[in-house]
Amino acid sequence: MLYDVIVVGSGIAGLHAALFAKRAGCSVGVLTKSNPFRSNSAVASGGINAVIHMDQEDSIERHVNDTVSGADGLVDRSNVRKMCAEAPQVVADLQAIGVGFDTDASGEIAQRPFGGASANRTCYIADHTGAAIVQKLLLECRNEGVHILANQKFMGICTFKEKLSGVTVLRRRDSQVIAHACKSLVLAGGGYAGIFRGHSTNAQESSGDVIAAGLRAGLRLSNMEFVQFHPTTLATNGALISEAARGEGAYIVDETGERFTDELQTRDTLSRAITEHMREGHTVYLDFRHLSVALIDEKLPSARKMALNGAGVDITTELLPITPSAHYSIGGLWTREDTSTDLPGVFACGECAVTGVHGANRLGGNSLLEGAYFGRVAGVEAARVAKRSEFQPIDYRDVEKESRRVELILEGENLYNINAMRKNLGESLFRDAGVFRSEETLSSAMEYCHYLMGRKHGLHCLHKERENNVELASILEFDNALVIAEAMILSALKRKESRGVHYRVDYPRRDDRYFNAPSYITLLGREHLKISFERVARGNFWYKTKKALASLTG
Ligand code: FUM
Repeated sequence: MLYDVIVVGSGIAGLHAALFAKRAGCSVGVLTKSNPFRSNSAVASGGINAVIHMDQEDSIERHVNDTVSGADGLVDRSNVRKMCAEAPQVVADLQAIGVGFDTDASGEIAQRPFGGASANRTCYIADHTGAAIVQKLLLECRNEGVHILANQKFMGICTFKEKLSGVTVLRRRDSQVIAHACKSLVLAGGGYAGIFRGHSTNAQESSGDVIAAGLRAGLRLSNMEFVQFHPTTLATNGALISEAARGEGAYIVDETGERFTDELQTRDTLSRAITEHMREGHTVYLDFRHLSVALIDEKLPSARKMALNGAGVDITTELLPITPSAHYSIGGLWTREDTSTDLPGVFACGECAVTGVHGANRLGGNSLLEGAYFGRVAGVEAARVAKRSEFQPIDYRDVEKESRRVELILEGENLYNINAMRKNLGESLFRDAGVFRSEETLSSAMEYCHYLMGRKHGLHCLHKERENNVELASILEFDNALVIAEAMILSALKRKESRGVHYRVDYPRRDDRYFNAPSYITLLGREHLKISFERVARGNFWYKTKKALASLTG
């Protein structure tokens, strides 16, 4: 079947894009490489931000101000304004398709406090908000005639005479590379925090596949250095204990039982405070013991289950050991206000896209909102472009090239252990490009990344079966993870300041020359990355500092 619009990714952004493109009259196919409940949207448990009651307590203006202040001088205000203004409608539309937000005694949507928010603004479904929303969106998409193309792993963008013509995918059931033609394409395939393997809340396949494919197709990346660490994840395995826990009153304590920080600070500040405390030799815990069992069971059932299954801890009576882990990638594919990218007909939204609303540090609860709002924009825009476009022919050399790559990985003799390599990359990134970074540690991470790159061609499948070959998918993902890691480290090396989640111990302050100056990565030739910084707001100050930025970039 031919689809006017192909959407890559089945999280909150991809499903919104699909729904809105379908409602605009297009045929829509959603590519998903595995179970949609493994998407990061399903992991975002604590809630979605929206001002529901405009009164003395809260207003759209306050939501805008909190988001801008969280973003730490690297923000697209106009996008923030639009997103916050539309948030109440986004939530109302989700309710209309059956998302059952928790309510208060008067039957109104209940809202909880979240870090960096000046009012209780986070709407929730206990502590499994993302999963509950994705479930209803999937149903709605199916009901409205969107086709979910499951187990099809996106590989690349096809063009004909420099125009979008479709995508190549790996069909997991037989490991064949096939092409889908489309008139417009929405990339919503998630972020790259999973490259911190062993130290990430994400599924291991969240390794930036879509972003790497975009880069190969000539799209610009932006702000790759900004990876958010979630302060409260299980010390045993990095699984997320939602910010909902702190929103409902859980404390962060050390082995003395004393609180040493304010639990509702933004995630960057909290992750640094916890990491520093751990480096001083302390063990850090979440303490729920003062909360009633009834409240825990009503509002935090997933946290209770997660703690028991992942750490063997009963949070109603015991302390839960935690540590920060990589949770959300703020960087990704550069987009304009209408979510368009550098290639006409290709749009991006959700975690893989940079819309500028999170800047250098995202507020909890704003990612589901960003995904929903910009997903809608992307769906509408993709449909508009599709309606005035013709299908372009697929250049089958694109398919052959990807097929050869797959056959080589399947057939060759394996020299290395993919799992060990992925884990070692994760260890190296966590240690050297994590919550704290410096020229020295980043250089060592880059060296290790290049070492792994030198060995990736020796990775082949030990098991040669073609049906759902997990090794094959892992090797393809690892290839992308290495490019993404290189882009992230390079951007972190070149941003010689500390801002938001990017903390350089050798440049511990903000440097105004980088104020509102995103970083950009492009591909030079087949594999060289080029980095630059450019100030977004144009004015006298911009002209004065443009020269300084050029020298920073050099
Ligand atoms: O802690 C959490 O529930 C995560 C939410 C988010 O990433 O927005």
